[in-house]
This record gives sequence, C-alpha cells and structure tokens, in this order.
Amino acid sequence: SEVDIDASAYDAGEHESYMRKEILEQPTTAQAVLRGRLDERFGTAHLGGLDMDARDLRAVRRVKILGCGSAYYVGQMGAALIEELARIPADAEAASEFRYRNPVIEPDTLYVAVSQSGETIDTLLAVQEVRRKGGRCVGLVNVVGSAIARECDGGIYLHAGPEVAVASTKALTNMFLAFALLALQLGRVRDLSIADGKRLVAGLERLPGQIEEVLAGEADLVEVAHSLAEAESLFFIGRVRGFPVAREGAQKFKEISYRHAEAYQTSELKHGPLALIDPAVPTVALVPQDELTERNIGALHEIAARSGPLVVVTHEDVGLGGIDARRVVVPRNEPELDPILLTIPLQLLAYHAAQHLGHDIDKPRNLAKSVTVE
Ligand code: AGP
Repeated sequence: SEVDIDASAYDAGEHESYMRKEILEQPTTAQAVLRGRLDERFGTAHLGGLDMDARDLRAVRRVKILGCGSAYYVGQMGAALIEELARIPADAEAASEFRYRNPVIEPDTLYVAVSQSGETIDTLLAVQEVRRKGGRCVGLVNVVGSAIARECDGGIYLHAGPEVAVASTKALTNMFLAFALLALQLGRVRDLSIADGKRLVAGLERLPGQIEEVLAGEADLVEVAHSLAEAESLFFIGRVRGFPVAREGAQKFKEISYRHAEAYQTSELKHGPLALIDPAVPTVALVPQDELTERNIGALHEIAARSGPLVVVTHEDVGLGGIDARRVVVPRNEPELDPILLTIPLQLLAYHAAQHLGHDIDKPRNLAKSVTVE
C-alpha cells in the first residue's frame, strides 16, 4: 500500500546530520507513540491495533520478543518491563538466530517482532516461522504498511516518523515506550494494581519532557565524548534493567565511531573483563538510583583501583563515594522507565565521538539502514 511521507522530514535542515536531527526530535516523537493510548482513569493503555481483547491478553502465558541489533536490545528492555509489570516470563532473542534452531512455538506465547524499517529479512523470516507453526505474532514497527507489519497478526505502530540515519535513535525510544504500553496493558488485565498503573501512566506522561531535559545537557557531554573517542577500546556496563542499556550504548558507539565497545553486566566484571581495565580502557557505567546502587558502586571502586577512566550515567542523589569519575546526571522517573532516560546520553556520546573522529555519521562504513537480504 502507498504511504504518505512528508518530504521535508527527509531534509536534515540546519542539522549537520540526520542522526542529530533524529536525536533532537525525540521529545516530540515520544509524544506521538503515547498519544491517545494512555488511560489515566484506569491506569492502563489502549492498543487497538493489537486486536486482542482482555480475554486474549489474559491467555498469554509467555512473551517472546524477536528483533535484530538495537531492536533486539530494546526487546531485552521490553522483556524486563513485561516481566516486572505483568509477571509473565518474557525474553528477547536475536531474530537472526531464531529460525535456525527449529524453535518450539507455543499457542499461549505472544510473539512480538520489533523493527524500525519493517523490512529486516531476519525478523520477517522469524515472524513467518512463528505464524507457519500457528503462533500469534504482533509487531512493534515504525514503517506503516512494511513487510513485517503486513505479516503480523496486529501490532503497535511506533509513529517516530521517517528515520534516515543508519544508527537508530528515535525509533528505539518509541520501541521502548511501546513496550511500556504493552507491559502496562498486560499487567492491568492481571495483578498490576490501579495505583501502580496510574503511577506508570503519569511516569510515561513525564518522559518526553525529561528526554528534553537530557538533550538540553548536550553541551556538557561533548568533551566527555571526545575523550572516549581517543580510546581504542571501551566497556559499557550495567545491571538488570541497565544491562540492555549498556548493550545498546556499546552498539551505537561502535556503529559510528568504529571503536571497540563491549557491554558487560557489571556483576560479570570480576569474572574476566577486569583483566583488561587500565588507564587506556574507559568504562561507561550505568548507575541509576535503585536496589543495586551500592553494588554498582562497589564495582566502580574495582575499576578506579586499576586507574580505569570512568563515565557514570546516574541520578542526582547517587553519591559516588569519592570515586574519580565524570558524572552524567539524568532525571528520575519511575524505576521501571529509567532505561530510556539512561539511553539518551549514550546516543549523544556516540554521536559526538564519531563527529570528533570525522566519520560519516549517517552512513557508517559496511552498514545499511535496513538489511533486506540474507
Ligand atoms: C541500529 O542502530 C542498527 N543500525 C541496527 O542494529 C538495527 O537496529 C537493526 O538492523 C534492526 O533494524 P530494524 O529495526 O529496521 O529491523
């Protein structure tokens, strides 16, 4: 089907790149995915496109999320949200691997395909594998009428507008928000209380403004990004909710800066990668104010003791106990929604590192915007 696209949306305008334009659009595009879908009165979400009534939603016993690259990492953030809010087992898997292991497709599992372009061949073939075996697959897709959108049983359009830069930013943010809506709805037909539902609806309503606050701090991140760009290799670390954020941060950094960036669970550092820490290997650590803050700070001490340079993305009230680190403070929301606010500064770090290195930001070497052939 024909899709109407506003040609001016393809113009980077006064921005030096589409990626920066797309990063800065996020406060507006984030509103677009939430618009008309939040129910303040009952603390839930309305997702008509899913084509599932309360009984269908209640019958879901497990959620399996399928996507590639960054869509897979946001899928991991989504799985955590669904487990927390709906208490249904949920996990994400790389769609590029899924069909090669003859997966067991269960009738009471909800499969969720995630894709900006809606044309990624591995994700499309994963959807076909699910549906061929009788599973129900819904899509979280940005491009209306795309192959994956057409192949799915229903879904949630992301409404991020056209995304041109290879490195995905605003579409990923909207994927996270769409997962939050889905988790809220799955939760509210189960045991998520109306009070918790309302708390999360209010949190989602605050998010676009808070994204704007993070973006307003861009100037403070430029010098940090330049120092990271000097390193040949760096780590991104986080725990539980923070780990997929670390994976996404490392992905974005390596895609456009061509530096080796590796994500680890903070808890895994001492099981191997600590051996690599020295003054030439910086670490970007995600340390939100949550039940793991103290343990995270313990790991930062281990890194500091080996003179590893540290950039800590954190909340205002987290004290680092005298550790020598560059702090990047993001606003607090509800803890379940923290991952997206922690992600935004990592986009800016990747962007300014790549710009410092003089790379083609929108078209990094060896990569295509959507991978449509096997
Ligand atoms: C993101 O920055 C990457 N360019 C890449 O990992 C991307 O997310 C992946 O190829 C999936 O694309 P899709 O969302 O269009 O399916």
